[in-house]
Amino acid sequence: MKRLLDNGTAPDSLVDLIRRCEDVGRVDGAVPPLFDEIIDGLHRIMADLIATPGQQPIDTPWIQEEHVTFIELIGRGGYGEVYLGTWDGKEVALKKVFRGDMGRDLYTAFAAEIEIWSGLKHENVLRLSGACLTTAFPFIVSPFMKYGTALSYLRSVPTTTYQRIKLMLDIARGMAYLHSVGLVHADLKASNVLVADDGTGLVCDFGYAKLESATRQKGADPSERVGTPRWMPPERLLEHTSNKEGDVYAMGMTAYEIWTLERPFGDVPDARLWSRIIDGDLRPCCDSTSVAMPAQLKSLIERCWAPEPKDRPSFEVVEQELQEILFVCPTDIPMPQEPRAVETITAKVAVKRTKRDELNLNVGDVIKVLGRFAGGLEFG
Ligand SMILES: Nc1ncnc2c1ncn2[C@@H]1O[C@H](COP(=O)(O)OP(=O)(O)O)[C@@H](O)[C@H]1O
Ligand SMILES: [Mg+2]
Repeated sequence: MKRLLDNGTAPDSLVDLIRRCEDVGRVDGAVPPLFDEIIDGLHRIMADLIATPGQQPIDTPWIQEEHVTFIELIGRGGYGEVYLGTWDGKEVALKKVFRGDMGRDLYTAFAAEIEIWSGLKHENVLRLSGACLTTAFPFIVSPFMKYGTALSYLRSVPTTTYQRIKLMLDIARGMAYLHSVGLVHADLKASNVLVADDGTGLVCDFGYAKLESATRQKGADPSERVGTPRWMPPERLLEHTSNKEGDVYAMGMTAYEIWTLERPFGDVPDARLWSRIIDGDLRPCCDSTSVAMPAQLKSLIERCWAPEPKDRPSFEVVEQELQEILFVCPTDIPMPQEPRAVETITAKVAVKRTKRDELNLNVGDVIKVLGRFAGGLEFG
């Protein structure tokens, strides 16, 4: 910091904060900044540093607002909206925050996503093209993928069983790469996978991603409490921690989505699922899908969402097994482009931890039945 101040490259936010602190006791009537103001100031400093040429700790092309045009809203998520737009005349996707007055948490989350994403380079990970933080509505730029997410692609383009497994393999490769550089994605699901023009799967959305080393403090990060529960493992729902094993669990759910195009557990509301996933080991049922799953794929998916994290395979193993499954998969079996009706989606209670008989249940009935199995507890 002293270096920044001495060589005159410190951002204004840093100079202001230091002056306010120095004035205390020196200038009549000067009051020290409140703790909250200091924290807020530090966040602004961080953002200023990221946006100051030559100071950014990351390798991101900084884009000027006037070179970009927003055309059409194509997606909406946790803290922002995604638009189809142009950057210097090229089609791009523009992810921007909802509002200009970014609170501290929002700014941190946005800067963290850019920082993590900008360091990633892999053929199965969506590329970051650039970002702009020096505007009322900061935004991130990435290449526009016309097919959109894995789900929209599979619903609009006829595919075979082989192509579905290949898409799973692409995701496993992208995830194995993330894990190899020490990152946890923490929000893997089919809607966070995009498909390139040649059908290649690309892992995207690093809004919850973090260094594995930063995930070891139990319950330390409030962002662990949000996310998408039906893709979350029991331990994350219970202890609010994300880790590599949790990503593997989410891979199981994502592979299930890609095979069936179904949302795991149909339309049962999140709040009614939590306790059943934690206590009952409730999982989607792979036995009754409209096209039968190859036995090896079913076994892999079920190991990915094993109740105990230690029983889940690593992404290297997932990748290797998917490759073997693909190797023997016929290339001409077409897959449906629509999911089954919601009423026919089933869930199952794993036998492993509960030592109960295996049950095949319609998700609509699952609540009542689990209530009986859990000793007459009232659910819902
Ligand atoms: N590069 C892109 N090309 C096409 N669609 C995209 C692109 N990036 C995001 N989207 C769309 O926007 C949605 C939200 O993007 P995402 O990065 O997942 O943000 P959020 O954190 O808001 O979930 C995606 O599910 C997808 O539909
Ligand atoms: Mg998303």
